[in-house]
Order: sequence, then structure tokens, then C-alpha cells
Amino acid sequence: MRIRVLKVVFAAVLGVSQFQGASALAGDAGDQALVKRGEYLVGFGGCSDCHTPKIMGANGPKPDASKLLSGYPSSSKLPEFPTGIIGPDKWGAVTDNDLAAWVGPWGVSFAANLTPDMETGLGAWTADMFIKTMRTGKHMGAGREILPPMPWYDLALLTDDDLKAVFAYLHSVKPIKNTVPQPMPPSM
Ligand code: HEC
Repeated sequence: MRIRVLKVVFAAVLGVSQFQGASALAGDAGDQALVKRGEYLVGFGGCSDCHTPKIMGANGPKPDASKLLSGYPSSSKLPEFPTGIIGPDKWGAVTDNDLAAWVGPWGVSFAANLTPDMETGLGAWTADMFIKTMRTGKHMGAGREILPPMPWYDLALLTDDDLKAVFAYLHSVKPIKNTVPQPMPPSM
């Protein structure tokens, strides 16, 4: 009798561990699929256009793969900006050679570090925060308004699952330490 009970317990424990093993495997495959989907969306979404520093090519700046999605480089120096060229009948915006700093009626905005670096990137962000940020257009989902030309309103059109995929991909790229400056208020 006791032996039978033990056998049942043993079978139950074995069953649980097998089940956990299977679900962990399924989880890995699921994570990989999510990251792949995120890579596809980030590619199509053109995030690198602003968020990856550039190297100069024959036709102008191209994303520098070694600095993928690390944002406006902290080592850059903003060139002196000619005042009086932004306005309703003038230019709408001006950008730097990395296409990462943007001057417009809102002041100067700097493309954020989207790598999973803990201090300077999205390392400490949760997927929920990321989704809230894109749905509300507020810094980190709760703060100041996110400035142009960040197209958060286009990302807001994605489903929660797709935004989770984008976030999973961003968390899978090489973390790069790069402190992006705070935006500057308009001065012209
Ligand atoms: C046309 C340029 C441009 C493109 C394209 C772009 N961004 Fe941005 N992004 C910016 C700028 C500039 C900021 C900083 C805005 C600010 O400080 O208010 C920013 C900020 C962010 C932030 C930080 C938001 C916060 O809480 O402060 C995240 C996250 C982000 N972008 C993700 C993305 C993703 C993902 C994509 C691609 C789907 C993308 N961006 C495409 C320019 C861009």
C-alpha cells in the first residue's frame, strides 16, 4: 500500500517536472518567435533612422551597425545653430549628421538609447511601461509629452502583442552605455 502511494507521488512529481521542462522549452521558442517578430517590426518601423548613429556613405548617413539603436551619441557636439530659420514660413526642423538630434519649434530633442543598458537604455523598463509610453505619448508612460519627431502615435496603432514583440527585440540587442541628453526648450 505504502509503495503504491509512493509510486503515485513519484509519478506525480515526475509528471510535474516533465511538464515544466516542456513549458520552459515552449517558452524559449515563444521568446525567439517574439524577438524575431520584434526585429521585423523595428526594421519596418525605421527606428534606426533616428535611434542608430550613422556612418557617412556616398549618399549621406547610413546606420552604424556597431552602435545599433544606442541613440544620440553622448560624444557628439551639437554644432552652433543659426537662429531665425525655424518658423511657420521657414524650416520645420533641422537635424544633425546622425539624424539623432532634432531642432524644431519644440526646441531640441535627442533620439533615446533603445538598447537594454540598465542605466542609460531601456534595461530597467518593463514591457507594460513601453506599451503605456506608445499608447499615451508620455515619457516612460507617465511623464512629460514625448517630442517630435518620435512617431509614438504610429506605434500606438500596433496591438499589445506587437508592442511586446518590439520591446522583446529591443531587450535582445547588445546593451550600449550611452547617456542621451535631456531635450532643450525652444530658444529661437
Ligand atoms: C524620426 C525619428 C524617430 C524615429 C523614426 C523613431 N524615433 Fe523614437 N525617438 C525619437 C526622438 C527624437 C526621441 C526623443 C523624444 C523626447 O525626448 O521627447 C525618441 C524617443 C523614443 C523613446 C523614449 C520615449 C520616452 O519615454 O522618453 C522610445 C522608447 C522610442 N523612441 C522608441 C522608438 C521605436 C521603437 C521606434 C521604431 C518603431 C522609434 N522610436 C522611431 C525619434 C525617432
